[in-house]
Amino acid sequence: MLTIALPKGRIAEETLEIFTEIFGGEFKFESRKLILEIGEFRFLNVRNQDVPTYVEHGAADLGVVGLDVISEKELDIINLLDMNMGKCKVVVGIKNEDEIDWSRPDIKVATKMVNVAKNYFAQKAVGVKVIKLYGSIELAPLVDLADAIVDIVETGTTMRENGLKVAEVIMESSAHLIANKNSYYAKKEAILSLYEKINAVVQSRLEVIDD
Ligand code: PRP
Repeated sequence: MLTIALPKGRIAEETLEIFTEIFGGEFKFESRKLILEIGEFRFLNVRNQDVPTYVEHGAADLGVVGLDVISEKELDIINLLDMNMGKCKVVVGIKNEDEIDWSRPDIKVATKMVNVAKNYFAQKAVGVKVIKLYGSIELAPLVDLADAIVDIVETGTTMRENGLKVAEVIMESSAHLIANKNSYYAKKEAILSLYEKINAVVQSRLEVIDD
């Protein structure tokens, strides 16, 4: 039995589509159910940021989660495969009318990705005060809680509708297949066999996009 943690929403649906493609049948969470068991697989329906936690602690052998979340958590897991879906960018956002003088000593940055933000500005030798928020990050500059945000942009709609623009791109992200270290050795055959199958579907989808 392999247990696989999936983040609620679109990435979970796309991952289950891949499983449907590989194994046939229908892989789908029933409305509010948090566990789905089909044959040798058990899927967990968890919050995006919680996927690496389930995997690191071994409550799940595998997980599918954005590189942005992996980078934020700095966890001890094995990164197996870029699944080339759930693409987004982590950016620095500011108000449309703003230009920021990054040499200012008192810049405030609001984000739910505290580590990614701190590492990015530290590596640029820019001193900022990071303010942790849990959601609706785009609001912060509009009410002067912060001068800038570090947040995810997928379609760009949220920033656009709130009068914000991208000042800098920190990283490109997409969903990755990750594994618990012990599981990877204890269940190596099952994990690698599944990895091969998922990789084949991921690559065939890439070819369709390229055509
Ligand atoms: C994310 C992110 C942005 C939005 C970007 O928030 O923090 O707010 O999606 O998407 P867009 O570029 O397509 O508009 P999420 O929906 O995860 O909600 P949250 O603010 O509660 O984290």
